[in-house]
Amino acid sequence: MNGTTIKTILNEPKSKNDIKYANESFRYESILDHNVSERVFKMLSEAENLIEDGYVPLYLLSDPEIYEAERIKIFATSWNFLAHESEIPYPGDYVVRYIEQTPLIVVRGEDNIIRVFLNVCPHKGREFVKAEIGNTSHIRCPYHGFVYNTRGKLVGCPVQKHAIGDIINYNDFNMYRINSEIYHGFIFGNLDPKPKKDLLNFLGDFKFYFDLVSNKSDTGLTFTNPQRWVVPFNWKAAADNFAGDIYHAFTAHATGYALFPKETIKANAVLTGLQVDAGNGHGIAFSRIIDSPQWYGNWWPELIKKAKNTLTESEYKFWTKYSTSTIIGNVFPNFGFLNAGMPFKGGSTKESIAPILTFRVWNPISSDKTQIWNWFAIENDAPDDLKKYSYLAYQHSFTANGVFEEDDMENWITQTHAGKSMLKLKLAEKVGEYKPLINVGAPGKIQSYPSDIGSMSFWRELVNKLLE
Ligand code: FES
Ligand SMILES: [Fe+2]
Repeated sequence: MNGTTIKTILNEPKSKNDIKYANESFRYESILDHNVSERVFKMLSEAENLIEDGYVPLYLLSDPEIYEAERIKIFATSWNFLAHESEIPYPGDYVVRYIEQTPLIVVRGEDNIIRVFLNVCPHKGREFVKAEIGNTSHIRCPYHGFVYNTRGKLVGCPVQKHAIGDIINYNDFNMYRINSEIYHGFIFGNLDPKPKKDLLNFLGDFKFYFDLVSNKSDTGLTFTNPQRWVVPFNWKAAADNFAGDIYHAFTAHATGYALFPKETIKANAVLTGLQVDAGNGHGIAFSRIIDSPQWYGNWWPELIKKAKNTLTESEYKFWTKYSTSTIIGNVFPNFGFLNAGMPFKGGSTKESIAPILTFRVWNPISSDKTQIWNWFAIENDAPDDLKKYSYLAYQHSFTANGVFEEDDMENWITQTHAGKSMLKLKLAEKVGEYKPLINVGAPGKIQSYPSDIGSMSFWRELVNKLLE
């Protein structure tokens, strides 16, 4: 990939809280009154007690009936990341996305407003947009030919007068719109017609940390189109890992780390890190390299000055002090991200490392199958060379055939397999349990590495929401 194939979008400078709330009418009802079976209720109640004591029952991972409950209680009520504004920069641009298996269209209307609709025709339910990305002035259903504009309004159909008469009176035929909100260019959708929390409340304390990965330049980020692949693991294995498992890097990623120049990878890079339970099931971890304070593995030098203008004072202070090597996190339920220095070519010098930023959705297909959606992102105003090297480093490390990515697949696949056991196994996610919480002037509960505190936050939120 060369520098020109990364779309450079000159977005309007972002305000601190650029939320746009969809308040149009929603012509569908949620099925949130879904009651879990007696069997699942018993399992969840047991899980709630076990989690209090630092244990996670393995059946939470792969049980098909729990998965059915998650579809309604987790995915239909959470704010789910769908796309980044830079993927649809021009009026008429759209992408097809999913919340669990619910098909959606994220479209920038001719009025430049981004809306999210079900990709389901209100006439007889055909999924009507098949091209996964494109630009269009209208959307035409291939079944009976209803035509919609990019604001989701029905504007015509074949033999209209004979078919539906005066379409002005037929709001029933407009596309189904869902709630969506945008934060720093990140478009989130919510299937609940009346979400209990808006996006910022859903992020809660995690906003502080999400800013650190999404808002370091006032020109915003630019995303590539996502790479996707299907892997036989349960989505929660990946979410648990990104929410709070740096510990595995010593072992699972030993091969990958062998590619790094020796002076940049020392055990202290991991052991001087912080693990955060940011509440609401969100987890994030930071590491720094104390022996090489001048070498910043996960950003480009000019960004240090730029970020002063976009981050709050406390965010900036925290970022420059604690995150000089790696940031890895998960927005509940299934939106992970990673920012780290990764090798883009062989050799053993610091110059062979470039910062990468990747976002991923662990989109569930079933209790033992997940489609990984994987985006590369970089600041719009990053130097062209850096865009190129960063993309190469991303390809080598965190794509379907990336060294680090592959390291994790077998872990998550076999966890999922073990979760199908007919035995009730309780996992002791107690790494770091003996350690005190530390105060570094940032929100949430924080422990030094290694720690399962972020993972346990994820499991606690999952069970709480399933029992709601
Ligand atoms: S199903 Fe779309 S027009 Fe009939
Ligand atoms: Fe990993």
